[in-house]
This record gives sequence, C-alpha cells and structure tokens, in this order.
Amino acid sequence: MDPSTGSKKIKTAVFISGTGSNLKNLINFSIKKKSPISINLIISDNKNAVGLNYGKFFNIKKKIIDYKNKNIAEKKIFLELKKHNVNFICLAGFMRILSKNFLKNFKGKIINIHPSLLPKYKGLNTHKRAIENNEKFSGCTVHYVTPKLDSGKIILQKKVIIKKKDTGKSLARRILPQEHKLYVKAILKVFSH
Ligand code: GRF
Repeated sequence: MDPSTGSKKIKTAVFISGTGSNLKNLINFSIKKKSPISINLIISDNKNAVGLNYGKFFNIKKKIIDYKNKNIAEKKIFLELKKHNVNFICLAGFMRILSKNFLKNFKGKIINIHPSLLPKYKGLNTHKRAIENNEKFSGCTVHYVTPKLDSGKIILQKKVIIKKKDTGKSLARRILPQEHKLYVKAILKVFSH
C-alpha cells in the first residue's frame, strides 16, 4: 500500500519518444481495477513527443530529458524515478538504449514492447526487414530489458500474418493494435504470481 495515495498498485513509469499510442493504452488500462500498475511518471527524451499530452487528463507527472549527454541523462532519469517511488518501468517506443549501469538498478523491473517476433529483427525497421526477407509472419514481443538490445527474456508474443501487398507502413498499422493488447496481457502475466 502506498500511504500517500492509498493505492496498492505498483508505481510505474512509461518511457516514450514519439506518438505514445502504447502509453495511451497503458494509461487506460492502469485506471482499471484489475490493473496491477498505476502510471505515475512519463519520461520522454523528446520534448515534441505527441504522447506527452496523454498524461495531462490524469495529471500524470512528466519529465523531458535532454539526451545530449547520456550519462547525465540517465542520472536525471534515475533521480526522477526515485523521487516518484517508481518500482516498475515500461518502455513504449523509447528510442534510446539504456546503459548497463542504469539497468543494474532495475533488474527484472523493466519491460519493452518490440514490433517483431524476437529473436528475429532486433533493432530498427523491423517491418520492412521482415517483408524484404519474405517472412510469412511478423508480430510483436514484450520482453524484459537487459543490456543486450532486444534480447531479454520474452514474456509474450503475438503473431501477425504478412500479406502479399503489405508495405512496412501497412504492416506496422496492423501490428500496433496487437501491441496494445499484448502489452496489457504481458503486464498481467508479470504480476500474476
Ligand atoms: C511501437 O511499434 C513499438 O513497438 C516500437 O515503437 C512504436 C511506438 O509506438 N518500439 P507508439 O509511440 O507507442 O505509438
């Protein structure tokens, strides 16, 4: 129980860089009774991230982090997380790689959504690369974050069929709603024990 809010939910921060549709979806989930998490902080490395607007309605604290110097940026993030007693982190379209040093403080407490069927297509341009390789399926994966990019233990995956006419954009559009569903399921799974 958090005495300051009376909430038993796990205080969570969501890290974003852009559109924030996953963030929006996580906020909507977090206010439901069945959600084990509350979203208490939004971290963005981009002051123009559209997703920053989503927290306004629910009065969620946000912090824009200047990433000119990664070391300093991560120190600021760390302080911010401590200030808000954050215990769990969801990366949702956050375009920075967190250092080993940062991650050691949050072992087993950071998860990420990636738009491919990991271990295939780590990194960027996943949809285009899957199509170019004539894959029959792509999809999305929620996994724990470790210092090795997109390589931590997989929590859940969802397959999506690649259609003949698919472009990177059309495939991304079809996968995104699946990401939203998968992220929620993965969080429920993480806290199911
Ligand atoms: C998603 O496809 C996510 O898997 C990837 O970046 C995209 C972010 O989308 N890492 P949004 O900002 O949540 O709308």
